[in-house]
This record gives sequence, structure tokens and C-alpha cells, in this order.
Amino acid sequence: MSKVTVVGAGNVGATAANVMAIREVADEVVMIDIKEGVSEGKAMDMMQTANLLDMNTRISGVTNNYEATANSDVVVITSGIPRKPGMTREELIGVNAGIVKQVTESVLKYSPNAVIVCVSNPMDTMTYLIHKVSGLPKNRIIGMGGALDSSRFKYYLSKALGANPNEVEGFVIGGHGDTTMIPMRRFATLRGIPCETLLDKDTMDKVVADTMVGGATLTKLLGTSAWYAPGAATAEVVEAVIHDQDAIIPCSALLDGEYGEKDLCIGVPCVLGKGGIKKIIEIDLNDEEKELFAKSAAAVHKTNEALPC
Ligand code: LAC
Repeated sequence: MSKVTVVGAGNVGATAANVMAIREVADEVVMIDIKEGVSEGKAMDMMQTANLLDMNTRISGVTNNYEATANSDVVVITSGIPRKPGMTREELIGVNAGIVKQVTESVLKYSPNAVIVCVSNPMDTMTYLIHKVSGLPKNRIIGMGGALDSSRFKYYLSKALGANPNEVEGFVIGGHGDTTMIPMRRFATLRGIPCETLLDKDTMDKVVADTMVGGATLTKLLGTSAWYAPGAATAEVVEAVIHDQDAIIPCSALLDGEYGEKDLCIGVPCVLGKGGIKKIIEIDLNDEEKELFAKSAAAVHKTNEALPC
């Protein structure tokens, strides 16, 4: 029996739970929220799709009752406030740090062996905070941002190429921030054909720029933070862990010398499977990429300084 808990049944948490349930990522998915009735109602609504979708996952919802989350294999933390139009993810740190700290302590009380997937923003800093609060081995804490940013990069590439998004490969490293993420244009391909040979420089520059502000563009349109791609990206990360896929997904991981950085969580390509991060893949960055990564890391370090611990 596999069990996943999703803390926070807002748009992102509920979408993640729904995608996991439909894809049968785990046998059981528990949603927990502080708002009375929200998790219960969303879980009931999803369970009423079981016969429509031929879905075998059991989904339940609880209010503030962490006992119901006991013995989860993976716990997803989406708690905290989302950004409003014009806000950066970094501006959420004050409120969200307190919430994420308390949630981490509560989930680990009942699921001491869980892998934790952090979704809350500012995501790299919240992932780092979970490390500090929990003292867990570093492989067991995964920040989701790179999975989402990479999917957005592939979306914008596919639009520029006029191609099926499923035929496009590409990934994003660095921080999960409008100015800190690094879409890796050199490695983007259309089924192995380098995108840089198919798109001119201006088009590629625009794809990269659009990817970086992908979340902000949606926040402006929606009035709040996006949820379909964030939810699906979260489900992708959880699926890799629960099904021991050895999937290579860019995630925020605690670095200890990799890419010349330490004592911070930032997006790097990771091999995900049983137990969480099995390996960090170190790419041989060129000088320009190295400079972007160092700048991104400096910005994430700076945001971490605002943490209360
Ligand atoms: C986004 C938020 C979830 O990028 O960070 O949409």
C-alpha cells in the first residue's frame, strides 16, 4: 500500500491530488487543510469521479487532523499564501516560513520516514527551511519548481517550433524565481535535434524570457497563482518517487559542493526514485551558464537570509 499526503487543499494541492489519483500514483491520497470542510468536500467530489474515470485511488480529506496522514510514503507541502498579480514569490517568505515550519513538524510526527516534496513559495527557500527544521537526510527533501519550469519551457519551445509539446525536450535549472531560473537553451531539442538550430536567436531569447516569467504571466491573467501545471508537475515528482522510476527531473536539492555551491537548495537535474533524490547530475556548464548559475545561487542565498531560523 502506498500513501501520499497533500498538505494544503487549495488549487495547487487539490490539482496535485486529483492528477495523482487519476494516474493512480498511489493507493491512497490524503488531503489536509486548515479550512473546515475544504479537504473533505474536494475529496468527496474527486471520489465521485472514480466510476467515471475508472479510478482506484482512495482519496480522503481532513481538517487539521495529522493523525490521518500517518505513515505516508510522500508528503507534499503546498501550504501558505499564493502570490497576487505584481508580487514576486520572494515576497511571500514572511508568512509562508512560519506555516511551512509548523507543517513540517506536524507531518514528521506521524510520517517520520516520508519523502517531503515542497511546493510552497518562495520554493527554494522553503525547501531549505524544511531541511533546517527537520534535519532529515538531504535526499528526502525535494523542491518541485524545476519540474514545473521545465514543462513551461517545453510549452514555449513547442509553440515557437509549431511542434507537439511531447516531442520537445528541455530543462530549467537555478532558482524558481522570475529572474533566477535558467532555461537551458543549449540542451533543448526537438526529438534530439537541437532547438538552437531550428529557431533563430531572437526567437530563442523570447522563449527563454517567456519561460522565466511563465508563472507571473498566469498570475496576471488569473488574479492568483496558477495550479494546473504546478499540480501536474508535483504529481510527476511524486510518481517518480513512489514508482521508483529513476526519472531525471530538475528539482530544488540541497547542494554540498555540486555546481560549486553549498548550503542552499536550488534547481539542478536530479535522479528521482525510492527514497527521494538518488543522485544530482552535474552538467559541464559553459562559462555563460556558470555565471548565470552563480548569480541565481547568490539571489537564493539572499532570500534565505530573510528566514527566521
Ligand atoms: C508558479 C507558482 C506555483 O510558478 O510558483 O506558478
